[in-house]
Amino acid sequence: MTSFETLSNKLGDGQSHVLTYWDQLNDEEKHSLASQIDGINVGLYEQAFKEVQMLKPQSFEQISPISEDRHIVKSELDPKIKDEHWDLGLKAISRGEVGAIVMAGGQATRLGADQPKGTINLGLGLSSTDSLLWIQAARIARLLKLAKEAYPDSSPSIQWLVMTSNSTMEETRNHLVKVVQDVGISMDDVTIFSQAEIPCFDLNGKFLLSSRSSLATAPDGNGGLYAAIRPLLPKLKSRGVKHFHIVCVDNILCRIADPHLIGCAIDMNADCAATTVEKTNPFESVGVVCLESGHVRVLEYSEIPKELAEKRDPNGKLSFRAGSVAMHYFTMDFLEKVSDESVRLPFHVAKKKIPYFDLSTSTVVQPKEPNGIKLEQFVFDVFPHAKQVSLNIRFLVWEVLRHEEFSPLKNAEHVGRDCISTIRRDFASECRRWLARAGVELSGDKYGNPVYISPLVSYAGEDLSKGQISPSNGVIKMTNGLLVENGTVAQTS
Ligand code: UD1
Repeated sequence: MTSFETLSNKLGDGQSHVLTYWDQLNDEEKHSLASQIDGINVGLYEQAFKEVQMLKPQSFEQISPISEDRHIVKSELDPKIKDEHWDLGLKAISRGEVGAIVMAGGQATRLGADQPKGTINLGLGLSSTDSLLWIQAARIARLLKLAKEAYPDSSPSIQWLVMTSNSTMEETRNHLVKVVQDVGISMDDVTIFSQAEIPCFDLNGKFLLSSRSSLATAPDGNGGLYAAIRPLLPKLKSRGVKHFHIVCVDNILCRIADPHLIGCAIDMNADCAATTVEKTNPFESVGVVCLESGHVRVLEYSEIPKELAEKRDPNGKLSFRAGSVAMHYFTMDFLEKVSDESVRLPFHVAKKKIPYFDLSTSTVVQPKEPNGIKLEQFVFDVFPHAKQVSLNIRFLVWEVLRHEEFSPLKNAEHVGRDCISTIRRDFASECRRWLARAGVELSGDKYGNPVYISPLVSYAGEDLSKGQISPSNGVIKMTNGLLVENGTVAQTS
């Protein structure tokens, strides 16, 4: 165990309060505190705290809406081209060239659940482990099947990489073991890894403690992905992975490892892409993809000034309407370059109510007002910072229809939007549209019950034509125990 002197030197005068109770700690507590201090770069975070305090207010003069070139509106693509993209994407999957990275390390404070967001049972009745992670796993399993059907001589694989953090690691891992078994994908193709933690500061730049023997820490933001994935890249490369789809854990409609997007990126020789939906409410909590002095960046919803958010073009649409859904495509080459140690992403500040151990009273305080600072890095900040590695990036904006691909779980139920009931509603609506398109009539369904189609059966509405629907393969299960059979709704036992 690192000695008191070494720890004390590392902490310096600025953070020496962390060791106030050292002499009263038992060996286990000393060990745990010492290893926590060993694991952090005190100087780096202190410097980051100072830098964010000294930051001049951002200037938005050079910000302009994203240009039309390299802006692909998926719904306006020629269906033939779309099919070609799909085939290219499936071919990449059939060759084992695709990795899907899920960012699942967030603390989900707005949701306020007592378990990681991705593991919550959504009550869809599709499986016993019916969660956002189950849905992603089932979509991956479905894609593998489609790739095998399209390329029978291949051995398709998708590397599924799940980024967790201290607070989500254990439950997510336990949940994934069940999920992976349930959908029948191989655990060999699943990697669970953890992002780093950053100490939380009080408003004066002192580390907060969560107990007398532990620092209060928080995940380093989803931009922590790059440092966390760096050591994994050589192995992924040796397995032949060339394309990554990076997604959030919370979007029920997320088309993970999307062959359309991957195929389009391959076709257009893009290094990276950001998926967007049209933002219609200026105050919606989504970042916007825009340009700053000609370079692509995402301006986060917490940072965009009101005038820009509300600005409209001559057609009355929001000028900054390329709403980022935090889903990205990267080539292996791009991810390697932006994950390099030399690329330093900026820290963003979040002022929060952080429970802390009060050294003067030896009690844990639950503050009523924001009392501390969390530093976070953002996943999309690599776009402007790609310049640092002299990368002249070929960027693509991939605009999709919100009702088809974006419905996130962010809030507790009482908020009434982006909550469990709305994501279930949006999933059911999308499934109904698929059925309508496939010619399946739901005329027998007098009650307007939600229809949930298992992603194991259909990834994006394919293969739902009448002839293929039968109760024997449990194709479409509705929450009320009805099955859709040959275009009508049938009661099951
Ligand atoms: C995020 C985006 C925002 C986008 C919106 C769409 C960022 C910084 N902001 O905002 O531009 O419009 O999603 O839904 O990406 N996560 C981690 N580790 C962390 C923090 C978050 O893995 O330390 C993960 C979360 O688990 C989640 C994703 O990142 O899957 C997004 O995090 P969340 O806090 O929900 O971001 P938003 O503020 O909604």
